[in-house]
Amino acid sequence: MAHLRLGVNIDHVATVRNARGSAYPDPLRAALLAEEAGADGITAHLREDRRHISDDDITALMRGLTAPLNLEMAATEEMQAIALRHRPHAVCIVPEKREERTTEGGLEVAREENRLAHFIAPLREAGARVSLFIGADAPQVEAAARIGAAVVELHTGAYCDFHAEGRMEERDAELKRLQEMSAFAASLGLEVHAGHGLTYDTVCPVAAIPEVAELNIGHFLIGEAIFRGLAPAIAEMRRLMDKARGDDEAEG
Ligand code: PXP
Repeated sequence: MAHLRLGVNIDHVATVRNARGSAYPDPLRAALLAEEAGADGITAHLREDRRHISDDDITALMRGLTAPLNLEMAATEEMQAIALRHRPHAVCIVPEKREERTTEGGLEVAREENRLAHFIAPLREAGARVSLFIGADAPQVEAAARIGAAVVELHTGAYCDFHAEGRMEERDAELKRLQEMSAFAASLGLEVHAGHGLTYDTVCPVAAIPEVAELNIGHFLIGEAIFRGLAPAIAEMRRLMDKARGDDEAEG
């Protein structure tokens, strides 16, 4: 099976920094360490309320990273201008509500097809790989393909929540939807990514989906870094992903 990329989301390094209004911990330093520890890319979400990642962080990441940056952002004019200024490798469009604690659902691509088509056109022209963060839903996948997105990122939040709550039948049903929609999206020519809420306990079945090319993981890894250090926390995630993918050297 093709190599499964790991994108490490460093938003919550900025959350810790911002809790005290200090200059540390530095998200760029974490991102560079993540690169060394085996991350294939770095993901950062510039939220409209700047609750974690700041504009200066995006500038620093663009200057300092070797690995590709995946900029997550809402479909607003302000964010479009920022993406066009920085020209990151990838732009992942996510729905955003100010009152939510984290990105709760996927984009309504089917309902907002025209608006999103116009929104992503200049990003595509600027050379960004445009990804749409969606639920595992056929109409959303079809609409993403129609408007010319290169990538869909499937929201794994519900699957992870069901697992955490011990609702295993619902978890398995959600996993089946993720598997089916990954195959469907790939059949339409879309690259498939997945993420949100993944942990050591939940990553393997998602990593084993053959069409999934990339996982984006953040909150759990930054938390786990408190206990193991960031590099070992990432290395263990990498090992589990490789094991799920059938790479024998990852056994153990
Ligand atoms: N993918 C997308 C599109 C996201 O919005 C997020 C959260 O910012 C993630 C992946 C990573 O989720 P988590 O931090 O729960 O691992």
